[in-house]
Amino acid sequence: MSGTVYLVGAGPGAPDLLTLRAARLLGEADIVFYDALVPEEILNLSKGEKIAVGKRCGKHATAQRFINKRLADAARRYEVVVRLKGGDPMLFGRAHEEIAFLAKEKIKVEVVPGVTSALAASAELGVSLTRRGVSRSVAFVTPRRGEGEAPSQWARAAASADTAVLYMAAGDAEAVRKSLLEEGLHPGTPVAIVENASLNSKVFTGPLKELPSIAARCTGGPALLLIGEVLRELAEIGDVPHFSIRVA
Ligand SMILES: C[S@@+](CC[C@H](N)C(=O)[O-])C[C@H]1O[C@@H](n2cnc3c(N)ncnc32)[C@H](O)[C@@H]1O
Repeated sequence: MSGTVYLVGAGPGAPDLLTLRAARLLGEADIVFYDALVPEEILNLSKGEKIAVGKRCGKHATAQRFINKRLADAARRYEVVVRLKGGDPMLFGRAHEEIAFLAKEKIKVEVVPGVTSALAASAELGVSLTRRGVSRSVAFVTPRRGEGEAPSQWARAAASADTAVLYMAAGDAEAVRKSLLEEGLHPGTPVAIVENASLNSKVFTGPLKELPSIAARCTGGPALLLIGEVLRELAEIGDVPHFSIRVA
């Protein structure tokens, strides 16, 4: 008999964007393995043992295969094991590797969705990622490539969608600009960078051709790069230090 591993989305950062299901499971968890971007207020919902396994930008992280093994070992000892990931666990969160390993070990897994940071950024900007007559497709992409991974067509996917949201991209602004221009995007295509969406957010805007200098204004928090015509009005206003339609 073994327990269940719950892959739980912690949302984009604001503790009150956690789902009720996630909060309940944290309350029941015997042990929680959590990523670097999960805020303390959310972790404090658990009285169980807490183990950090995440990383930020090149800092040491627990190797994925070691995390997989620890999750399996924990499920053999405990009933409720929570694997807490930033945003939604199924987007750029290596959930598949954990699910596949646990399935092989015959351990039950359940996934609890969370608010992905792209949607928090859209809310923060007050800009819908889709818009009648302007945007009927949205692509979530990342230029980031893991060790040993084959190159992807991320720039083609981003350029083909009406609106694109790029995860883990703000640090590679020069290369991102070059790739998107090569895929045929107009240099004047509006872009917005949202740093720390749902928290103390900062918004930087401008045309694609100026992406490196826009990205240089980031202050080191997690950031998303949004591209597309839906951002035109916003990009013409210029940077917005903190704009939110959320009712605090
Ligand atoms: C490993 S990915 C995980 C994404 C996560 N699973 C999600 O659904 O948001 C980490 C990247 O997500 C983005 N990100 C996460 N939280 C963010 C936030 N609060 N504001 C802006 N970007 C964020 C950044 O691009 C960051 O580098």
